[in-house]
Amino acid sequence: MKALVLAGGTGTRLRPFSHSMPKQLIPIANKPVLEHVLSGIKDLGVTEIGLIVGDREPDIVDALGDGAGLGLSLTYLRQDAPRGLAHAVQVARGFLGDDDFVMYLGDNMLPDGVVEAAEQFRTHRPAAQVVVQKVADPRAFGVAELDADGRVTRLVEKPQEPRSDLAMIGVYFFTSAVHEAVDSIEPSARGELEITDAVQWLVARGSEVRATEYTGYWKDTGRVEDVLDCNRQLLDQLVRSVDGEVDEESVLIGPVSVAPGARIVRSFIEGPAVIGPGSVIEDSNVGPHTSIGGDVTLSSTHISYSIALDGASVSGVHAVHGSVIGRSAAVSSGDLVTRRHRLVVGDHTRIEVAA
Ligand code: DAU
Repeated sequence: MKALVLAGGTGTRLRPFSHSMPKQLIPIANKPVLEHVLSGIKDLGVTEIGLIVGDREPDIVDALGDGAGLGLSLTYLRQDAPRGLAHAVQVARGFLGDDDFVMYLGDNMLPDGVVEAAEQFRTHRPAAQVVVQKVADPRAFGVAELDADGRVTRLVEKPQEPRSDLAMIGVYFFTSAVHEAVDSIEPSARGELEITDAVQWLVARGSEVRATEYTGYWKDTGRVEDVLDCNRQLLDQLVRSVDGEVDEESVLIGPVSVAPGARIVRSFIEGPAVIGPGSVIEDSNVGPHTSIGGDVTLSSTHISYSIALDGASVSGVHAVHGSVIGRSAAVSSGDLVTRRHRLVVGDHTRIEVAA
C-alpha cells in the first residue's frame, strides 16, 4: 500500500501564519502538523508516500526533504492550483499506479491513529473505505450515511441539511477503482473536484464502500483555535525530559520537555510544556499547555495555553493566554508611563488588548 498526503491548498483561515508558511507546517507540540501526519502513516507500515504540494512546495521540501530522516520515501507531486481533493488523485495517477493507497489530508490530526481502519480495509478490500466521526454540526464536512453493517449508502459534501451526523475526517483508503471515479465526476458548486463526489460515484455504481468510526481525538487544524486545542491535546501525552540547562532558582512542575541548548533562568514552568532548542526563558512563568519553539526569548513574561514559533520574543508581558506568536515576531511591554500601545501589525493579524 502507498500513501497520498495532501499538502496543497491556500489556508486562508490560518492567516496571518499561512501568508509566510504552508498551514501544514504549523508546529503542534513543536513538530509540524505534516510530521505528525507522516508518523501516523508510518504506523500503518506504509513508507512510500506521495505529497501533493502547491506554490509552497519549497518550504515543505525544506522541512521534510526526501523523508529519509523519518524513515520514509517521499515523492513530491505538484498540483498547479487547488482544484479539489479528487483532482489531487488525478495528479498522483503516475505515482500511485494500480496500488491500493491511503489518502490523508495534510492538515488533519488523528493522534490516536487509524490502524483499525487500515486493518478493516486490508481484510475486506472494498473499493473505498472512509473514516468518519460523529460531530455536532456536520455542515462543514463531507457527510456519510451508513446501513446497519457499516456500508456507506450515500455521501454528500457540506450539505445544508445533513441526513446523518457522521463527518468524513480526512483519511480515505482506496483500491485503483477510485481512478475511474475521479475521472467521471464534474466540479462542484465551489469549482472543485470533490473526493466525496468520487466516492459517491462508486456507491451509485454499486461498488462496496465501507466506513470506520474513529472515536479518538480528531482536529482539522484549519483555524488558530483548532491549532491551540490540538496543541493542548498532544501536550497532555508529554513525558518529562530535561536536556537543557535549568538554574537552581527555577522550578519545573509536571511533564516538561526542555530541549538541548535551551536555558531556563529564575523561571517557573508548569507542564505540560515544551521548550525548543536554543530558547532562553528568564524571570518568566510558562505553561501549562504551552509550546515554545526554537531560539525563542522570553523575559519577565507569563504565558499559558499558547504557542510561540521559532525566533519569537516576548518581554515584560503578563497574562499571555490563548495566543500564537509567529516566527521571529516580537512582543514587548509598552510605555508604562503614557500607557500607549505601539503596534506594528502585519496583514490579517488579530490582536486583543486588555486595556
Ligand atoms: O477536514 C475534513 C474535510 O476535508 C472533509 O469532511 C471534506 O469532505 C473534505 O472535502 C475536506 O474539506 P475541506 O474544505 O476542509 O478541505 P480543504 O480545502 O481544507 O483541504 C484539505 C487539505 O487538502 C488541506 O491540507 C489542503 C489540501 N488540498 C486541498 C485542495 C482543495 C490540496 O492539497 N489540494 C486541493 O486541491
